[in-house]
Formats: sequence, C-alpha cells, structure tokens
Amino acid sequence: MYIAMNRFKVLKEAREDFEQRWLGRQSRLDEVPGFVAFHLLRGPEREDHVLYSSHTVWASEDDFIAWTKSEQFRAAHAGAGPSKPLTLGPPELECFEVVQALEMPTAGQPR
Ligand code: HEM
Repeated sequence: MYIAMNRFKVLKEAREDFEQRWLGRQSRLDEVPGFVAFHLLRGPEREDHVLYSSHTVWASEDDFIAWTKSEQFRAAHAGAGPSKPLTLGPPELECFEVVQALEMPTAGQPR
C-alpha cells in the first residue's frame, strides 16, 4: 500500500471555506483503479494557520502516479487555484510506502 498526503496551512479565518470546499466537491476517486481511502484531516491550530492534510491510501505507488495523470485528477484540480487565498502558500506533498498495516477486521461496523 501507498499513502499520499498533501499538507495545507489554512488561514484561520478561512477554515470554514476550506472545509466546505472539500465537503462540497464531487469526488471521483471511487472511479480510479487502486484507490483505497480518502480522509480530510484537521490538525493542530498554530499562531497563523490551522494544519490540514488530504490523506489518500492507494494499492500501490503506480496507482497513485496513474491517478495524478488522469482525467479525474485534472477535473478535481480544475478550480484549485484559489480566487481568494485560503492557505499560506502551496500545499506540501508527502508520500509513504506502507511498511506495516494493522486493521480491525470489523472496524466501522455497528456493534
Ligand atoms: C500531486 C499533488 C497533489 C495531490 C496528490 C493532491 C491530492 C488531492 C486529492 C486526493 C483530492 C481529492 C480528489 C477527489 O476527491 O476526487 C484533491 C482535491 C483538491 N486539491 Fe489537490 N492534490 C495535489 C495538488 C494540489 C495543489 C497544488 C493544490 C493547490 C494549489 C491542491 C488543492 C486541492 C483542492 C483545493 C482540492 C479540492 C477540490 C475542489 O476544490 O473541488 N491540490 N487533491
């Protein structure tokens, strides 16, 4: 498995707009071969920003790279250049090969 995370330093006054932008989008990740999971993560609040990360899990690095060249990626980023700035600068991409994964087989199911 492979994880690609983009870190966004979001201006404090823009956090609502930033979250709504993600929550309101029409995601097409479920069309993409090798896509496993997506999470939008809200992290710690610092003096001048709130840290967010878009976190995607892929079956392999090749699947992730193929997505970055796909029509679905292009469409998801067609409007990504913000009209009014929501972040301090561009996002920072960090990618990881999964070395070990442990999961509850029944995670997410009602008890
Ligand atoms: C290779 C680099 C990048 C990766 C891996 C990445 C990852 C992602 C992912 C997984 C999504 C969700 C797509 C979906 O649900 O279909 C997305 C959407 C988005 N990305 Fe990126 N992204 C990249 C580059 C960028 C850059 C450079 C920016 C900002 C300048 C950006 C800003 C956004 C925004 C704002 C959205 C939400 C889409 C919307 O507004 O409708 N991304 N990105």
